[in-house]
Amino acid sequence: MLDKLHHLRDEALAAIEAADSSDALEAARAAYLGRKGRLKDLMGDLPRLPAAQKPAAGTLANEVKQALTRALAERQKKLKAPAAGSGRPALDVTLPGAHTELGSRHPITQVNDLLVEVFARLGFETAYGPEIEDEHHNFDALNIPPDHPSRDGFDTFYIEDGGRNEHLLRSHTSPVQIRVMESRQPPVRIVVPGKVFRPDTVDAGHFPMFHQLEGLYVDEGVSFADLKAVLSIAMQELFGEQTRTRFRPSFFPFTEPSTEVDVSCPFCAGRGCGVCGQAGWIELLGAGMVDPEVFRHVGYDAEKYTGFAFGMGVDRIAMVKLGINDIRLFYENDARFLKQF
Ligand code: PHE
Repeated sequence: MLDKLHHLRDEALAAIEAADSSDALEAARAAYLGRKGRLKDLMGDLPRLPAAQKPAAGTLANEVKQALTRALAERQKKLKAPAAGSGRPALDVTLPGAHTELGSRHPITQVNDLLVEVFARLGFETAYGPEIEDEHHNFDALNIPPDHPSRDGFDTFYIEDGGRNEHLLRSHTSPVQIRVMESRQPPVRIVVPGKVFRPDTVDAGHFPMFHQLEGLYVDEGVSFADLKAVLSIAMQELFGEQTRTRFRPSFFPFTEPSTEVDVSCPFCAGRGCGVCGQAGWIELLGAGMVDPEVFRHVGYDAEKYTGFAFGMGVDRIAMVKLGINDIRLFYENDARFLKQF
């Protein structure tokens, strides 16, 4: 009996190992382990064995049954798995696919483009100027003489040209006013986007390079009322129809009169909150009527023409518009920040 069981086990294991399909495996299972299979058959003889042999035979029969059951399950698993070494990994359709990351425009670029578009609808074309300027365009033609105190904060980043130091990284976009007026006659209606450079110490609100948008409108009969109308409408386009503007007297050497323009805080509608420092207003740009002295520098007839100019910080507007509290975030190239816009 024990020999027969051993023999049966070896034969059955060989048959299971040889099965090369689920059907063949099922046939082997039926032949050896099935209700009418060979193991059942053999076990039918157990009761007829002498009593002394019964326990050993019973135990072995059970062991054989377990061994065959295990072998069957293992073979079944192998048949389902892809052939090893077939060269191709199994296709798992439940894995996430490889996806392409979409890029997006930098938040500064987005706000800059929006500003240019708003002013384009108001009739302003876009002009550009060099980031390396000469002192004439950056200062003198804008009525900022060498000893003028307002030159101090801008007076930096000079480029040594044979020791003469007449060129510098422009400290504002206003020199492009001069370049455009030098090159054509009124009417002039332009906006000038671009980078500017100042010796500011880096903190949450300052960076030595930032972006401005300059504006200039020169024609016969341009008044301060036009300045107020254009800037009020532009700010409403930018921050929403409910936005109010406030014009405070100020000083720039190249405009007279000059004004600082505040907008009602878009976060609290002017009631006062953390963003506007409880003021209800946010200071956003400088502007004014073009000083006749500037017209004289570019050869325009100051008796015939008047105009207004304005300059705004694009970074600052982007911070207010997008709710960003630290200008440095724009320049750290951290995708976790940039992805949010
Ligand atoms: N150029 C000025 C600045 O950088 C802004 C300005 C532009 C003011 C045009 C008046 C008119 O601060």
